[in-house]
Amino acid sequence: VRIIEAAALAIGLAVLVAAGAAQGFGADSLVARKCIGCHPRNADGRVSRVEDMRTTPEEWTVVVDRMRRLHGMPLTRDEMDGLLKELATTQLLAPDEQASVAYLSLWHNAQQVESPSGKDDERMFAACVRCHTAGKIRSYRMTPEAWAKQRDFHLYAIPTVVAQMREMHWIEEADAVLAYLARALPYGRAWIAPAAKPEGDWAVFAHRPGHGPYRGEVRIESAGNAEYKLSGSHRYADAVETFAGEATLYGGYALRTRMQAGGAAVFGAYRLDRDEIRGEVHFPAPDFRTSTAIWLRKTGTPRVARVVPAYLLRDETTTLLVEGVDLPDVSPADIAFSGGPVRVLGARRVAPEAIEITVASGATKLVDATLRVKGIDAGAVRLAPRIDSIVITPSIGRARLAGSRHHPPEGVQFEAIAYAKAPAAKAAVALGPVPATFRLAEHRTRPGDDDLRWLGEIKPNGTYVPTGGYGPNEARRFRLEDSGLVNVLAEYRRGQRTYRAQAKLAVTMPDYIARIR
Ligand code: HEC
Ligand code: HEC
Repeated sequence: VRIIEAAALAIGLAVLVAAGAAQGFGADSLVARKCIGCHPRNADGRVSRVEDMRTTPEEWTVVVDRMRRLHGMPLTRDEMDGLLKELATTQLLAPDEQASVAYLSLWHNAQQVESPSGKDDERMFAACVRCHTAGKIRSYRMTPEAWAKQRDFHLYAIPTVVAQMREMHWIEEADAVLAYLARALPYGRAWIAPAAKPEGDWAVFAHRPGHGPYRGEVRIESAGNAEYKLSGSHRYADAVETFAGEATLYGGYALRTRMQAGGAAVFGAYRLDRDEIRGEVHFPAPDFRTSTAIWLRKTGTPRVARVVPAYLLRDETTTLLVEGVDLPDVSPADIAFSGGPVRVLGARRVAPEAIEITVASGATKLVDATLRVKGIDAGAVRLAPRIDSIVITPSIGRARLAGSRHHPPEGVQFEAIAYAKAPAAKAAVALGPVPATFRLAEHRTRPGDDDLRWLGEIKPNGTYVPTGGYGPNEARRFRLEDSGLVNVLAEYRRGQRTYRAQAKLAVTMPDYIARIR
């Protein structure tokens, strides 16, 4: 008990110290000038409402704009920009908190299926996850008072809420859920933005579902005031694509990029941690794609970003690519696997960013081996006797028809992931993506179901972008739109075996209220 008390005291002190530090909004700050008129400082100097919550730059944009929209606060573009940067210095999620809701950071068709864990969460999903995502809620950390006020905020901002949720006593449900959220997502303490220096040369290691891994490079130059200029290139198997644009760094780690690549506007959301940047970049339709990426700073010290593929099958000879920065020349004697039987047949550096290793695994059961290359930690490589099954992600893909010039079609990239059976009653273990071949098939939900006919095609690599527009299709029964629900089938051959998997594709209406995530 003493230890707990001491810990509680320590946390209490930390909060106090942080709260002291959080009075970053001095008299001449933009927050003080714009917000204090309506949100006076508390006795301890904190700006009420504002210093009661932490969230993402995207959600702060929504909140600040609401002050203009609903409460008549004058707001210019420059002021919005300045306010977001000021708010981000203390009122931002911590990087790991942000990572768990990062799928909402880009304005694209995130395919994550959210699901509740536990009774309290189930209650939250019933009362809350109808008008917006659970991710929106989980993007916030608030004081108990601020959580409690969410009830009245909803009643005034969305006056239809009680009628819309009439199968429950929404006000009582909301109060109960908000009490739970006050415990589950507490304000904690103000974010302390680290001094960050993203400028320099970085190597890019990216993965594009349906196409596989690729490398690239990017140069980041400071343009002052947490703004940066970016330029670089991606090298695909058959082409080099250059890109250039700008980025803003919020709170010392949340990097948001806006680039042009091949004539398309491309957005990225990343988290910076000293010499490493991780995140996602999205290209809109028609050349629709989303890639995940790791950027490593070129510091002169060798570091490994990843190994592709990150698994080996028994009795197959595989060429692994160990990718990173400033990698040394190697010979087979420099390659050391531990934790599993792997024979090294060859090794050579093919670029400063890549070492090729030819290996054969003799593993008869599933294990993770660790790999060191000339003493450099290269992480784990999974050894499996064989692939036992493949699974398609997402299990239900949601595509949206084009709505207008401002609502381009939103596609789905399906990907097949290989799995190996785990010993006794444990869940199967993912090995990695495999190049399966995709096709669509009817999923019969009604007599005369003809969805498949109107949905267009999926590419063999799993890329689907709707071709129809929003509006009645005169040629279709009941003048339906080109929407529907069909099956997605994947097939993958490896050696003597053929693997099959099934998922679903729902093609639905454009998202005209895209502001609410
Ligand atoms: C013209 C008055 C006015 C100004 C200026 C103003 N607000 Fe508000 N704000 C309100 C009102 C009214 C509410 C709703 C009542 C409440 O919750 O306090 C509110 C609520 C909020 C909330 C709670 C969430 C919500 O939308 O109800 C936050 C957070 C907030 N304001 C932040 C800010 C920030 C940051 C600024 C400065 C950029 C700001 N406000 C400037 C009037 C204002
Ligand atoms: C009837 C629809 C509806 C329901 C039900 C609903 N919300 Fe919301 N919620 C909204 C809308 C609309 C917004 C504001 C969107 C905007 O302005 O961008 C919002 C915003 C929020 C925000 C952001 C806070 C802010 O200041 O912007 C949180 C957190 C939130 N809701 C939590 C909840 C919780 C918790 C519940 C369940 C108790 C819930 N919502 C139920 C419609 C709903």
